[in-house]
Amino acid sequence: MPFASLPLIALDGPSGVGKSTTAKQIARELGWAYLDTGAMYRATALALLQAKTDLDDRPAVEKVLASLRIDQQGTRTILYGADVSEQIRTPEITRFVTPVSADARIREVLVDQQRVIGKRGNWVVDGRDIGTVVFPNACCKIFLTASPEARAKRRFLEQQAKGIGAAMTLEEVMADILRRDQADSTRAASPLRKAEDAVELDSSAMSFEEVVAWIVRHHRQHS
Ligand code: DC
Repeated sequence: MPFASLPLIALDGPSGVGKSTTAKQIARELGWAYLDTGAMYRATALALLQAKTDLDDRPAVEKVLASLRIDQQGTRTILYGADVSEQIRTPEITRFVTPVSADARIREVLVDQQRVIGKRGNWVVDGRDIGTVVFPNACCKIFLTASPEARAKRRFLEQQAKGIGAAMTLEEVMADILRRDQADSTRAASPLRKAEDAVELDSSAMSFEEVVAWIVRHHRQHS
């Protein structure tokens, strides 16, 4: 394991725990940049769908990967020059991104891009494998968890507030969270797990503000 010295916060954890909103706020408070690696997997899934690529058709997958151009401008995700920030959040992409993110070759390409982006540090990066694989030398590693019930409730309220997913019941949101937990933690390629030197924070009974304050304080005390 390389010496942990890169000024970067690696924020990993399961689906629906609020990593991206938390990471964005931490980045704002520290004056650092924010990288949403989940959005990169989602944009790749969209690129593969747009090209009507079957994941079993390896030459076709390679062709998409060779021309893949994903940029993040602030909190927007840009694919081939077009803003796809909303398009990558549809249920169709949320389903298809599971096999896409389990594909070792796709992970290899995206991890390379993530390392180029964050190599000088001063980034808050959220994902599933940031502290274990992408930036094992990050100075601050947080593994953010919450019970499935707490995550489902938060996601359900968030979707209602946004006026999306109105057709999804709390039970359906919960089933989707459990499906993604199972897929993310049992896949062969970089499964979701806590890095040995990460601090686990169970946010089930914490407010968003408390989680942000806890991580910022932990970072300042330990770097
Ligand atoms: O965090 P999210 O729901 O936007 O992530 C989308 C998918 O990508 C999800 O299935 C988990 C996966 N993912 C991953 O495997 N590794 C990452 N670093 C980030 C996300």
